[in-house]
Amino acid sequence: MKIAVVGSGYIGLVAGACLAESGNDVICADIDQDKIERLNRGEISIFEPGLEPLIESNLEAGRLSFTTDVPQAVCASDIVFIAVGTPPDEDGSAGLQHVLAVARTIGESMNGEKIVITKSTVPVGTANRVKAEIESRTKHVVHVCSNPEFLKEGAAIEDFMRPDRVVLGVDSEHAAEVLRDLYSPFVRTGREILIMDVPSAEITKYAANSMLATRISFMNSIAQLCEKAGADVNAVRQGIGSDTRIGSSFLFPGIGYGGSCFPKDVQALARTMSDLGADASILQAVQEVNRRQKRILLERLVDRLGEDLAGRTIAVWGLAFKPNTDDMREAPSIVTIEGLLERGARVVAHDPVATDEARHRFGDRVEFAEVNYDALHGAAALVIHTEWHPYRRPDFERMLNAMERPLVLDGRNLYDPDQMAERGFEYVSIGRSAATVRSEGSG
Ligand SMILES: NC(=O)c1ccc[n+]([C@@H]2O[C@H](COP(=O)([O-])OP(=O)(O)OC[C@H]3O[C@@H](n4cnc5c(N)ncnc54)[C@H](O)[C@@H]3O)[C@@H](O)[C@H]2O)c1
Repeated sequence: MKIAVVGSGYIGLVAGACLAESGNDVICADIDQDKIERLNRGEISIFEPGLEPLIESNLEAGRLSFTTDVPQAVCASDIVFIAVGTPPDEDGSAGLQHVLAVARTIGESMNGEKIVITKSTVPVGTANRVKAEIESRTKHVVHVCSNPEFLKEGAAIEDFMRPDRVVLGVDSEHAAEVLRDLYSPFVRTGREILIMDVPSAEITKYAANSMLATRISFMNSIAQLCEKAGADVNAVRQGIGSDTRIGSSFLFPGIGYGGSCFPKDVQALARTMSDLGADASILQAVQEVNRRQKRILLERLVDRLGEDLAGRTIAVWGLAFKPNTDDMREAPSIVTIEGLLERGARVVAHDPVATDEARHRFGDRVEFAEVNYDALHGAAALVIHTEWHPYRRPDFERMLNAMERPLVLDGRNLYDPDQMAERGFEYVSIGRSAATVRSEGSG
């Protein structure tokens, strides 16, 4: 099939590369000239395991190409994916300016019947607006469908190639047939293609992300209760996760959700619900809990070291909002680091892949260590934000020797509280009160 993917950011690149890998001719288009020039040289600006070789091999095979000429990409294709960003507007709703701009370009470039698919995460009703923009500029038939993307950053290729399910919101039997055919190589192991009406597909994406965010905020609330009641949230997590009606995913307490999707999608769904007169109170609560949780490591550090951190070195392990990505959008680490800098601390940070991103964000206000242990020299505390594998079993002796005060604030519950106490650390984690009591006692 001949496919255009408009928007060559995270989602557009992954979708374009995977669709080319399954034999289609794919043109990825973007208005960012610099990005397209770099992509044509095989340079990829995002860190995503497996993406670079996939792009390289499909470029070489001639199935994948990159262009800034969006009209030309549309003309050359029967199927056009819209994969541009939908950043939040001031009122919290999803900003549709890029999506509608692409719709106008498609309308002006139509040279035959086409299927246009919104892959960007867009509020219910957007496909109708896209269709209206296109139809007001052409007499050719256009089908506008919704195909929300559920992949996870860090496992994006695997998720696209072997999705749990493919959701297709379609406006005609013809579109359903073409898209079922397009996705059939990705569901050969019996995964489902769910064909539904367009508004249901649009809502499904927001409902999925908001459900996952709700589980996270729920567990963070339970973690708070565990601390106050002298319970262990890990035990509670296992106790409820083994119930097949609940399941064990997304029950880890931590320092709140971040990233490019959950915060904006929960906010946008709450906005849509309010606009349409549905009760959004559950999502308001989810967001409030998350806002509080993102500050928790900073508050616990200040409880122990005081408000004035001038002259204190604080080590930070982990900057990305989760492992296997360099994405720092809405990362809890930003909240901690800004709070530390405001209080005069010297911050020395390590992350296996996100330091370029962090340099861009913090400039020379933060120092970066090449090796995680190098961040610890003379540190009054270590704050852990991301559960990268190398942080899970570190050389504790080396840590103790390097730090001025052996205070570890662990936002990911990587270590056993009793063992940490035995090793001589003041150890603070999430939802495990025994550790907190012990560490306060020894601090
Ligand atoms: N990142 C994720 O994990 C993820 C997962 C599922 C869904 N989504 C959704 O996918 C969409 C895209 O997200 P992303 O992370 O890829 O965004 P991104 O910011 O990485 O990329 C968007 C790209 O669109 C380009 N663009 C903007 N306007 C354009 C125009 N008029 N014509 C051509 N190109 C244009 C930008 O230059 C940019 O390269 C969003 O709606 C997001 O919510 C993202």
